[in-house]
Amino acid sequence: MFELSEDQQSLKDAAAEAASVILGDTLKADDESETFRPELLNSLGEAGLCGVQTTEEYGGLGLGYTEYAIVLEEIAKVSASYGVSVAVTGLPQVILSQFGTEAQKEQYLPQLAMGETIGAFALSEPDSGSDAASLQSTAVLDGDEYVLNGTKFWITHGGYADLYVVMARTGGPGPKGVSAFLVPGDADGLSFGKKEEKMGLRASPTVEVVMRDVRIPSSNLLGSEGDGFKVAMSALDSGRITIAAISVGLAQAALDVAASYACQRKQFKTAIIDFQGVGFMLADMACKIEYSRLLVHKAAGLRDAGKPYSHIAAMAKCVATDSAIQVATDAVQVLGGYGYTREYPVERFMRDAKVMQIVEGTNQVQRLVISRYLRHLHGDR
Ligand code: CAA
Repeated sequence: MFELSEDQQSLKDAAAEAASVILGDTLKADDESETFRPELLNSLGEAGLCGVQTTEEYGGLGLGYTEYAIVLEEIAKVSASYGVSVAVTGLPQVILSQFGTEAQKEQYLPQLAMGETIGAFALSEPDSGSDAASLQSTAVLDGDEYVLNGTKFWITHGGYADLYVVMARTGGPGPKGVSAFLVPGDADGLSFGKKEEKMGLRASPTVEVVMRDVRIPSSNLLGSEGDGFKVAMSALDSGRITIAAISVGLAQAALDVAASYACQRKQFKTAIIDFQGVGFMLADMACKIEYSRLLVHKAAGLRDAGKPYSHIAAMAKCVATDSAIQVATDAVQVLGGYGYTREYPVERFMRDAKVMQIVEGTNQVQRLVISRYLRHLHGDR
């Protein structure tokens, strides 16, 4: 199944080149100072990398999720932070493409797809993370406007985004009371609280978003009232493939550094890769990356074919992110004391990998999605 076409290989090479040229110089300093540079995301957009999956009609490349995964893997090999940025600015595009009206698509999609504007996805709240359906932000219809109130937590691009997809409650408790809205970044009443100080992914801003009587036109509702939970869940199905693809890139970068170090580093007059303890560790790392990549491409392929893929996306997210933290940790081990210093990138890979097991649904939530699928398949009929 797994052979890239010529076009896919060219895209992969172009993405690798663009990511290295655009992001390469700032990596170490921005990781240390926790700096996000929106202009770098704009440049990735100019290179065509922010709207791979959005149709050409709306400014994207009009390719599939498989190609999107290929691009994200290459960006993440250079910087997981900007891999996540591209994926998160992709989420409103995925949502608009699936649920947007023609007018909403025309207004917002092209600029997002071309990286001229930045998108964000606001679901989580201080007291609602894994239990997303318990969110408490509200949206009340007042004439031809909705008035939004509440606090969103862990928002990638908070304070930088030009467009937020916000989930808020228009009805009673539970998933059916949730609606999804397009909220412009400059809306009155929108403010930004604490920027999180994180272990990893430090060039990616994670910020509290506060809504106080934010008024938006009623035409900014996505779908109908009560559709918001489904909008969020189907976006996350797609998003989980992107986090898995980023994790494959991150792990591949860690293996590349570790394997080349192990070939050059001599101890006891022998390259350390020739000691079985190290060579087999590298072999296991390579296996984890290969099977993770296969699962990512399977999930992306199913999505591209219009087939059900939620449970495979959850598997890809679990497997690729669990693999990434193991591979990155082992890469630090292969480099020994050097690996633990900031002189080499593997300690950054290890810090960046940890959060992949948490974002866009913890791996425990992914296992819940998979086990519910098994229950549906094999349970009482
Ligand atoms: N696609 C479409 N609809 C779906 C769906 C999916 N993947 N999953 C569930 N639904 C629908 C169900 O069919 C159901 O509708 P009906 O009653 O009409 O059938 C409704 O949604 C409720 O479903 P559940 O009963 O399964 O809902 P639940 O409350 O048990 O929650 C859950 C399930 C899987 C735990 C879900 O809450 C979840 O995924 N939680 C994790 C949230 C998450 O990933 N947050 C990350 C936020 S983004 C981020 O990390 C940062 C960033 O910046 C991007």
